[in-house]
Amino acid sequence: MSKHTATLIDNETGEQFELDILHPSQGPKAIDVTSLYRETGILAYDPGFMSTASCWSDITYLDGNKGLLEYRGYPIQELAEQGSYMETCYLLLNGELPNAEQLHEFTDRVVHHTMLHEQIKRFYSGFRRDAHPMATMVGVVGALSAFYHEYMDIHDPENRYETAILLIAKMPTIAAWSYRYANGTPFVYPDNALGYAENFLHMMFALPTEDYTSDPRMVRALEVILITHADHEQNASTSTVRLAGSSEVNPFAAISAGIASLWGPAHGGANEAVVRMLMDIRDSGKPLIHFLEKAKDKAQKFRLMGFGHRVYKNYDPRAKILRELCHDIIDKSPLAEEHHELLDIAMKLEAVAMEDDYFISRKLYPNVDFYSGIIFLSMGIPLNMFTVMFAMARTVGWVAHWHEMMGDDKSRIARPRQLYTGKTHREYPPIDERD
Ligand code: CMC
Repeated sequence: MSKHTATLIDNETGEQFELDILHPSQGPKAIDVTSLYRETGILAYDPGFMSTASCWSDITYLDGNKGLLEYRGYPIQELAEQGSYMETCYLLLNGELPNAEQLHEFTDRVVHHTMLHEQIKRFYSGFRRDAHPMATMVGVVGALSAFYHEYMDIHDPENRYETAILLIAKMPTIAAWSYRYANGTPFVYPDNALGYAENFLHMMFALPTEDYTSDPRMVRALEVILITHADHEQNASTSTVRLAGSSEVNPFAAISAGIASLWGPAHGGANEAVVRMLMDIRDSGKPLIHFLEKAKDKAQKFRLMGFGHRVYKNYDPRAKILRELCHDIIDKSPLAEEHHELLDIAMKLEAVAMEDDYFISRKLYPNVDFYSGIIFLSMGIPLNMFTVMFAMARTVGWVAHWHEMMGDDKSRIARPRQLYTGKTHREYPPIDERD
């Protein structure tokens, strides 16, 4: 392809600058501004990265206008319907779906990393029992860097790959133990005879006093949730992992930073916030329209949680999958009545919002977090564990991006600039001369 450029004209000075235009395999083209400052002394200003591509990536593609999401070219619907989470992890890390032998070998490698160093168990008891499990998870994952010293050779691709597997394997144990510690029930060790999702449910709910077998429908529902949450290109937490990793920090510190970023209600914390909102609506006795109007009122901080997305200006394809799954799963929940009620409120809220000009004109559709929480509730997962579930699923995305970035010779330390708005130069006054 011939070189494609754009011309930037500074209308004040009349100077002109040629900037290269870059073409990805799909998606919008981009103006390459990497040399802009060096050559022109001008910075690019883009708070919130509304128009900024921060890297090249082969992993995940999403088209927000079409509501399309693909991992390595495979549509999310097909992976969720036909695939498994282990296959998805292999795909995200390696670029291709595994054959039967590769899947067996990969799963075996994951399984051999599910245990935590025994000393980590004692680390948990340093936390308050009422700590939010996300707080515990941020701490424990960061602390892995104090335990797994042999997994920090960040410039060796083999070592990075093994670290990726280690993190995918240990995350369910860390997540389940965060719950068990808060709950006051004994930690349950991983059972390597079980699949990834089933093992997690086992560590969450098994008791030493009785037999525990997971409901296969819940196991499959969790697989679908894990697959649909596995990656989502350069979202806030993934960008945080890349940014932290760009200073060549160890992977455990970088992933811990990603978990912290995910926690906020504008990102992964929305799944917990959605269910709290649905419960508030139910308990308030007020009509739905009251909450809709509140969400539209700019004087109020309130937003419809689980609605809107920076990139999707169409129905989030993950929300479509989870909406169906939600209907299917709540019928099997032992607490079905309460969950039916919440699902009913969610469906009505979606229906009124989708007919409201405010939401239509801003292209605000339900996102992945709108229905996932009701599914978690039906599985018996407590509210404050919802974002932990998201973190567990997203770990593969984070490590895949970190691995890709560390192997990319275009990567350098992420160091944005600013437009300074503070005081200009002034002399230091002695203390007795100050007002
Ligand atoms: N309720 C009411 N108004 C909204 C909402 C909402 N949920 N989301 C966006 N808006 C309005 C916003 O007020 C703004 O209006 P105006 O143009 O009049 O100023 C317009 O829509 C654009 O919103 P924005 O905040 O500029 O968009 P953004 O891309 O910066 O934010 C978002 C995206 C996801 C943070 C936002 O839509 C939001 O806060 N949603 C609720 C929280 C949520 O569900 N988060 C989960 C996101 S998906 C999963 C994930 O990332 O983990």
